[in-house]
Amino acid sequence: MAYRSSTSSLLSLLGLLSIILTSAAAIRLQITQRPTGVAPSFREAPAFRNGAKCSSHANDTIHIVMPLDTNYIRGTMAAVLSILQHSTCPENVSFHFLSVHHLDSEIFPLIKSTFPFLRFKMYGFDPNRVRGKISKSIRQALDQPLNYARIYMADILPADVKRVIYLDSDIIVVDDVAKLWGVVLKGRVLAAPEYCHANFTSYFTEAFWSDGELAAAFEGRRPCYFNTGVMVVDVERWRRGGYTRRVEEWMAVQKQKRIYQLGSLPPILLVFAGNIKGVDHRWNQHGLGGDNLEGRCRGLHPGPISLLHWSGKGKPWLRLDSRRPCTVDYLWAPYDLHRSSRVALEE
Ligand SMILES: *[C@@H]1O[C@H](CO)[C@@H](O)[C@H](O)[C@H]1NC(C)=O
Ligand SMILES: *[C@@H]1O[C@H](CO)[C@@H](O)[C@H](O)[C@H]1NC(C)=O
Ligand SMILES: *[C@@H]1O[C@H](CO)[C@@H](O)[C@H](O)[C@H]1NC(C)=O
Repeated sequence: MAYRSSTSSLLSLLGLLSIILTSAAAIRLQITQRPTGVAPSFREAPAFRNGAKCSSHANDTIHIVMPLDTNYIRGTMAAVLSILQHSTCPENVSFHFLSVHHLDSEIFPLIKSTFPFLRFKMYGFDPNRVRGKISKSIRQALDQPLNYARIYMADILPADVKRVIYLDSDIIVVDDVAKLWGVVLKGRVLAAPEYCHANFTSYFTEAFWSDGELAAAFEGRRPCYFNTGVMVVDVERWRRGGYTRRVEEWMAVQKQKRIYQLGSLPPILLVFAGNIKGVDHRWNQHGLGGDNLEGRCRGLHPGPISLLHWSGKGKPWLRLDSRRPCTVDYLWAPYDLHRSSRVALEE
């Protein structure tokens, strides 16, 4: 069920949560700190069962691709839980995790023990594949090789996976993900919410716009900003069109001449902006992490919400742990499976 971000219902929800969390913070003090560097442990999620009308055709599986990193695993776990919880057919959602740690003997059992009933596979993403191609951006976290894995997913996933929803790990879904899955691509490679009022110029440098040859990349299309943390991708069409190489070509240009400031987003915009299928904005309420440099708190945009996205510098689990949460972080907290939060919430 989706919810509207009407001020009154949000405030009452926040009121309730802040009561829970205030007592949580008080109790957490008594919990012995786990030594750092050890994988965090998570409580087991319940089994989510299919509704009566779910399809049994293997080709109707919903494929979700997410990056999986030890630093963001708490976000990934919350994201998976939120997706299952709001799905009419949770048993038909299949997860594909891209990870540089896929051979790590701890991470697979960790997912298995948290979600014993989950349909998932892990795939290795070799960071060396992009290491020499990454240019330094304005925020170090954006330069992690795994951020670039989405550009390579079409090659990594098995050939029988033809369409995927790519999701970042700092999201929660509060609606049936099947609705997003059903978007009609109309021959496009990619679907995502588009923001045609955002200042597109600002995503590229003066050096880019003043070079006629480079700026000509957008000739014949009206480019609009979209966020690459939530995308429906026809991976078959992506493979056929050689889009990985096209994005890589722009990364190579960036190596020669600084044409943008952010990480993996701008080269994807260069290839696709103005050429995607738009999706309702409710599917990516992004920027909740605040801006890229300071991570200041941000409120919700008005309108219905199906997916919340903590893009930007601040992450809800870090802000909640440091007891300096933003108001929107209380919307993430109910999906947190981290043990420390459970012990706290139960007492
Ligand atoms: C959906 O899940 C049910 C129960 O596990 C299974 O029998 C069926 O084959 C699945 N269908 C799809 C489309 O994945
Ligand atoms: C899925 O498979 C069924 C049975 O094999 C077929 O009738 C249906 O058209 C397929 N659907 C899609 C979307 O390919
Ligand atoms: C858009 O951004 C560019 C570059 O940052 C700036 O020069 C321009 O004034 C902005 N345009 C608007 C309409 O805000």
